Amino acid sequence: MREILGTTQVLGVIGYPVRHSFSPPMHNAALEALDLDFCYVAFEVEPVRLSAAIEGMKALGIVGLNVTIPHKETLLSLVDEIGEEARLIGALNTLYFDGQRLYGDNTDGRGFVASLRAGGEDPQGKQVVVLGAGGSARAVTVALARAGAKEIVLANRTQVRAERLAEMLNTRLRPGVARVVQWQSAQLQYELGRADLIVNTTSVGMHPQEEACPVADLPPLLPEALVYDIIYNPLETVFLRRAMAQGARTMNGVEMLVYQGALSFQLWTGREPPIEVMREALLRELQVRQKRG
Ligand code: ATR
Repeated sequence: MREILGTTQVLGVIGYPVRHSFSPPMHNAALEALDLDFCYVAFEVEPVRLSAAIEGMKALGIVGLNVTIPHKETLLSLVDEIGEEARLIGALNTLYFDGQRLYGDNTDGRGFVASLRAGGEDPQGKQVVVLGAGGSARAVTVALARAGAKEIVLANRTQVRAERLAEMLNTRLRPGVARVVQWQSAQLQYELGRADLIVNTTSVGMHPQEEACPVADLPPLLPEALVYDIIYNPLETVFLRRAMAQGARTMNGVEMLVYQGALSFQLWTGREPPIEVMREALLRELQVRQKRG
């Protein structure tokens, strides 16, 4: 690890709990690779102490933070300025301090789209199916709509959540960009079979429920379809394995995690993030934890 000096500046992640976060190893590896005089630490802050913590961080000269559960929405009312995408998503994942002013942004959706582009996939004009309608689905669909996706078909177990999300996308981003189909329906099967991009944002299939799959049957997909599961533990979900069995291209949640982190890193340091270093650090940490069980 890089030496901590009198000049070392502080970055971090704020959450409750936060010990499980993958961000410290990922960002410290990136800071070290670029020999930047920063360190990145985890701050476990109870919700009732959030505003006191933010005041303290301003006073201490903290440079920037990632934000995780349960502070992502609450912090919207504590920052001085909010990025447009964060406002649409209704949650923050990144803060940066500029003197006494505090800016809030959200790099989750942009990170998702950046990972697609890095994989050679441009969402512009694409027919998309998104499974889920929670916080991750909001981030992913806002970014996809802004990146020019042709249509986003939403399916969620609790249909009313998908309907609310579709309405927000249609009214605030582009009329007609989003539409809802019923969870586990024949209509969903039809939409999966004609999608260019399919994204699972539900937690179905995540450790420890590794045998679960968000769709009971995956219909024959388009030959060029890309199937993306934002779950990163396990790296290969049942959902992705079923897509691979058809020869579909796939991406896992490590990519979204790396690219949302990379965009935050760029905001704080103004430097080009070392993507490969960040991905390796993340995969190393995942392996360590899997061994521990
Ligand atoms: P995140 O911030 O990761 O999106 P979330 O907001 O809690 O987390 O959303 C979790 C998503 O996974 C939701 O779409 C949820 O569906 P519901 O809205 O019906 O709860 C979905 N999900 C979780 N467990 C599920 C299950 N067993 N079957 C189907 N969907 C599930």
